[in-house]
Amino acid sequence: KKIALAYSGGLDTSIIIQWLKENYDNAEVIAICTNVGQDEDWDAVEQKALNAGASKYYLGDLREELASDYIFPMVRAGAVYEGQYMLGTSIARPFQAKYQVDIALAEGCDALCHGCTGKGNDQVRFELTYKALAPHLKVIAPWRIWDIKSREDAIDFAESRNINLGEISKKNIYSRDWNIWHMSHEGGILEDAWNRPEESMFRLTKSPKEAPDKETEVIIDFEKGFPVGLNGQKMNAFDMMKQLNKIASENGVGRVDIVETRLVGMKSRGIYETPGGTLLHTAMRDLEMFTINNDALHLKQKMSYDYADLVYAGKWYTTARYALEEMMKKITEYTTGSVKLCVYKGNAWVIGRKSPYALYLEDLASFGPSDYNQKDAEGFINLYGLSTGVTAMVHKDLEDG
Ligand code: ARG
Ligand code: SIN
Repeated sequence: KKIALAYSGGLDTSIIIQWLKENYDNAEVIAICTNVGQDEDWDAVEQKALNAGASKYYLGDLREELASDYIFPMVRAGAVYEGQYMLGTSIARPFQAKYQVDIALAEGCDALCHGCTGKGNDQVRFELTYKALAPHLKVIAPWRIWDIKSREDAIDFAESRNINLGEISKKNIYSRDWNIWHMSHEGGILEDAWNRPEESMFRLTKSPKEAPDKETEVIIDFEKGFPVGLNGQKMNAFDMMKQLNKIASENGVGRVDIVETRLVGMKSRGIYETPGGTLLHTAMRDLEMFTINNDALHLKQKMSYDYADLVYAGKWYTTARYALEEMMKKITEYTTGSVKLCVYKGNAWVIGRKSPYALYLEDLASFGPSDYNQKDAEGFINLYGLSTGVTAMVHKDLEDG
């Protein structure tokens, strides 16, 4: 027996290694870690995995591809779950699970294992990816099987087995997830939806109160709906995210406090920091309005909700998502240009845009003289309003008897 475990270096996935060996015939456990942009001491993580009993350790550097092949398409699609959550955890899970599956297949593993609870979204995202990429492999989700119910139980388990957990603390106040796009905070005092988060909880963004008393201007360049440059400088996706995160964080931009609907139906309170992402969405939303005609734009805006639902559910490797991707690609074919933003004390707003494909024609929109013939509007409105007029007339005749 050989089991491929999605390993984070945290308490839960560390004790899972020992638990798997005890419950699956002393199985060989391969710990699979992914660098998605979180700040970690990777040598220490590897040591922890091996100390906990893993036979082998893998670390995948997914940062550039996560940005270019997952996050940027999501930005192009304008996908924001329930209109507010920028999907930071959701977008990374399918790629992390794919990396795990790739290794499981290469190593000839019999089973895939993850440390997500039976209450959350992440279990669904991992397992939908497993089903899409390796439906024949067995899935083990310890949280849905074992008797461990709390962090204290987990620590007791580790101590009774002499698992060296390094500096894992007894009390972890929040459940957090971190990558190049965002950091999420859930649990602890946040479970009372009326409680304001403490300032000390935030990790990625400065408080708007502490932000510089000076505006920062940023220019973001797009090509066919993809971010490609910053302040006139071309850069790859990961560097772009780093730079944007820095500017937005310094200025206290990107905090969201919401109660979202999980896949299992329950409402759940979360605080998110998505600094650079907030700038990208703001800029992209502006450029698409500038370059995409009415019908295509409105269609895109409607479909962005469906795209967000698919990402939230972890349905990345599905026909529906592939189809929407083709649609987004077609609609943003001419969404090339630049957007200028002003970033200041928790806010980011658009202050200018330009594009070789701008559908905005200054002459046409201008209040001055142009080729637009105002007399045409009369006939247009007569026909455009024809059905409204007919309906009103018929209804009135019937009412009058
Ligand atoms: N509620 C968010 C989501 O479902 C964040 C989940 C964070 N996950 C975690 N294991 N801490 O995408
Ligand atoms: C978990 O329950 O494992 C984390 C939170 C979530 O998946 O929504």
